[in-house]
Amino acid sequence: MTGPDAAGAPVAPGRLTGVGVGPGDPGLLTRRALDVLARADRVVAPTTSPDEAGRAEAVVRGALPDLEVTRLPFDMTGDGAGGAAARQASHRAAAARLLPWLAAGEHVAFVTLGDPNIYSTFPSLVDAVRQHDPQVAVDTVPGITAFQELASRSATVLLDGTESLALVTALDGPAHLAEALDRGASAIVVYKGGRHVPALASLLRRADRLEGAVLGELLGLPGERIAPLAEAADGPASYLATVIVPPARPGGSPSPDPGSDRPT
Ligand SMILES: C[S@@+](CC[C@H](N)C(=O)[O-])C[C@H]1O[C@@H](n2cnc3c(N)ncnc32)[C@H](O)[C@@H]1O
Repeated sequence: MTGPDAAGAPVAPGRLTGVGVGPGDPGLLTRRALDVLARADRVVAPTTSPDEAGRAEAVVRGALPDLEVTRLPFDMTGDGAGGAAARQASHRAAAARLLPWLAAGEHVAFVTLGDPNIYSTFPSLVDAVRQHDPQVAVDTVPGITAFQELASRSATVLLDGTESLALVTALDGPAHLAEALDRGASAIVVYKGGRHVPALASLLRRADRLEGAVLGELLGLPGERIAPLAEAADGPASYLATVIVPPARPGGSPSPDPGSDRPT
């Protein structure tokens, strides 16, 4: 809770900013993100173990090697029902670490992979913080998403004209992909489907949508792989894997130059 300081003077309420750092390549950190990280009173990053930098911290370090980062342990056992209690407990514990800093009026920046408003831990962390301090100011800095990077790196035109996009998850299997295919969504992005790559590919093959589908695994990170889904369909991929299914385009896809001058 924000309140007076030791001398009785009111303390300005703290601020919590969720900063999207992109999927992995530090070159995809935006200028706004770099600016906020440099100015924040404290930068915090999720990690599974306090002794190890998490992915988002590693991305930030690639751009700002000397930045001081405080690690917040999080339970990352996946989004399945089984891990829900553990995840909530870890969000409450992380919020408890943040509350004294926010109560002291600090601007705390929480870094997160991709964009903080797309399947990120950040909103749950905000809920846990607001249960104790509803006044805390919250904002976000958008980040480049994994699917934008995959579209770019694989020279896939994701949407054209009046086409639409479905973003689905496949943590427990391809059910949401099947629904999107039934709805006739033109382009489909699949997140969290690494364990189910063979099942995703066979569903797309049956729906005649496998051609043009691409897999991006560990984009911008050690072990990166970008391949046609048909060639990667023989086994599972990392949790950090994204699939793009481009729209079925009877006349063929618009094809940009496949990015030969991409800076590395
Ligand atoms: C918890 S969600 C985070 C999404 C992220 N906030 C975004 O905006 O892209 C995790 C999923 O994002 C995708 N993802 C995130 N980073 C990735 C990367 N470096 N390479 C491939 N996929 C990634 C994967 O589908 C992964 O299962």
